[in-house]
Amino acid sequence: MRHKILVIDDEPANLRLLVRVLGSDYDTICANSGAEGLEMLKRQQVSLIITDQRMPGMTGVEVLQESLTLAPAAIRILLTGYTDIQALIDAINTGHVYKYIQKPWDAEDLRLTVKRALESYELKTRNQELVTELQAAMRQLENISIGTIVALANALDAKCDYTSGHSLRVSRYSICIGRKLGFSPDELKDLELTGILHDIGKIGVPESILWKPGRLDPDEQKIMSFHPIRSAQMIEEIEQFERVRLWVRHHHEHLDGSGYPDGLAGEKIPLGSRVVLVADAYDAMTSDRPYRKSIGFDRATAELRKFVGKQFDHEMVEALLSVVGENGENLNESGIPESYLGLKLSSIDPLQSGKQYLLESARRSQS
Ligand SMILES: [Fe+2]
Repeated sequence: MRHKILVIDDEPANLRLLVRVLGSDYDTICANSGAEGLEMLKRQQVSLIITDQRMPGMTGVEVLQESLTLAPAAIRILLTGYTDIQALIDAINTGHVYKYIQKPWDAEDLRLTVKRALESYELKTRNQELVTELQAAMRQLENISIGTIVALANALDAKCDYTSGHSLRVSRYSICIGRKLGFSPDELKDLELTGILHDIGKIGVPESILWKPGRLDPDEQKIMSFHPIRSAQMIEEIEQFERVRLWVRHHHEHLDGSGYPDGLAGEKIPLGSRVVLVADAYDAMTSDRPYRKSIGFDRATAELRKFVGKQFDHEMVEALLSVVGENGENLNESGIPESYLGLKLSSIDPLQSGKQYLLESARRSQS
């Protein structure tokens, strides 16, 4: 790589001398004043700036200071005609001068200093490139993780297509509640994940149970009530999901201890699980399913309030109801808060929702 060096000096003779010493190894561009040098930096990229300190208009220190925004990566060298203590203190204090060289300078010394300065520039740029590559790799990794989560949620939607979109809506309603209760951004992110992943364990529940139109018998109920454990098991290997795993496992626990899988009660139920339980119930009651219509906003609200203290936490229910609006209109697509993971509700195809379920029901009624 052939480096470009900007040299700034108000004395033409000094400039010629600098070019003679450095011109054979590097591309040099010259400016007669600080202002001219800064103009050049707007148009050209340089690896090194060498400037005289004593110049009319702007001093060398001032030029180097201003060059920080125009050429942040460039290395800066200051030439001082005599021991200008104040200029050196300023330059060192502002921390942007690689080295100062006292005039009159020796050609060999200058060449060596420039060589070292450019090695330092190369190291700095390579480091910056590595940081950028690392950041890109981390972004990619994050996208892969989110992609995997969506794939899991889609797998569930493909199997239980009569509840399509349920997980995404639960995750957004949970964010609404979490925000009202002052959850931290990290907790809100975990709430969104819990909403998406809470039912993925249903992938392991036989369709004869999942799609059974009537009540489940005790054996079937037992299999069904295993799904929170299975959901948690499915994300066991993901280290960062420790809290999500806990919240997922307990999303069917009731405040009075009558829920499953562990029969936890009151404060023993993790906060995030209590949030998702309310969001889950609200969405189940207010969305149309192929086998039944939504029970409507008013009845859903009444049901939630009726079971406060038994199933639901008072605070969670009130937090959700305070944001849903008069008739639940605040929780339509436009009113739902932004996803923390960049997921879109529109990724669900409403026309596909419940198709498989209806086909299967028709097949069963014929046989
Ligand atoms: Fe569930």
